[in-house]
Amino acid sequence: MKQKAWIKNFLKKYFPPAHAFSVRCSLVLRAFLRYGLDCNPLRLFWIVEPYTMVGHARLFNAYDLSQRCQKEHIEGAFVECGVWRGGCAAIMAAVATRHGARRKTWLFDSFEGLPHPTEKDGEKAALYAKQNVTGELASIKINVGPLQDVERLLFKILKLPRESVYAVKGWFQETLPQKKDQIGPIAILRMDGDWYESTKCILDNLYDSVIPGGYIIVDDYGSWEGCKKAVDDFFRARMQPEIDFKMIDLAGLYFQKP
Ligand SMILES: C[S@@+](CC[C@H](N)C(=O)[O-])C[C@H]1O[C@@H](n2cnc3c(N)ncnc32)[C@H](O)[C@@H]1O
Repeated sequence: MKQKAWIKNFLKKYFPPAHAFSVRCSLVLRAFLRYGLDCNPLRLFWIVEPYTMVGHARLFNAYDLSQRCQKEHIEGAFVECGVWRGGCAAIMAAVATRHGARRKTWLFDSFEGLPHPTEKDGEKAALYAKQNVTGELASIKINVGPLQDVERLLFKILKLPRESVYAVKGWFQETLPQKKDQIGPIAILRMDGDWYESTKCILDNLYDSVIPGGYIIVDDYGSWEGCKKAVDDFFRARMQPEIDFKMIDLAGLYFQKP
């Protein structure tokens, strides 16, 4: 195990292209073991891998839940809040548009990086933000995924129909209240905004639009203290502690809205 980590770090440091290539190969190998010879997911994972920081198990989860919504005709839009360079969102949008442009996919991000965390995000986030925990809606220049990268992936590389995928640039606190009526019912709400205030804002604005039987994915539940707290606070306030959370890996979880 230790040896594997050593090789990984060595490759990452001294041979970044070889490291990136080996990560991509391992994703496709795992996808092959999971999906067999179905070329659609293999091709998709190969293409999106450089455009996402989401772990492999969580990429498979985004693919599986999107497929399930298609097969079971669970109506509503696919939404990702916290897109970075668009890799995970592209998986959802590609599945949504495979059989026509009817289902819409909405992507929300500042496309300028994370805002300042607050004290609720804990020590790890404070270190990340160099102790600047004001909650200010200004970029701390970390996790910057430019909108051009997302558009290149969606429309040039994957050639998805522009009329089905909407990318909205800005802080969730400003864009979500403006757009929630336009989005309408939601089949999948994927939350990947890391911080307490970002996660809380997504839940406050969009949770009620998720249809019963739709899915909520929380990418950072096990990795960022503030994200976990925002989810726990939200359901405690609504007195809904009985939700059947399913872990995807050590960090991510999802559940089906009762
Ligand atoms: C971990 S990254 C998302 C990773 C992405 N899902 C992927 O596939 O790699 C977190 C993203 O959330 C965005 N973000 C966090 N809080 C935000 C907020 N309040 N408003 C807008 N964007 C936010 C950041 O800009 C960043 O791109």
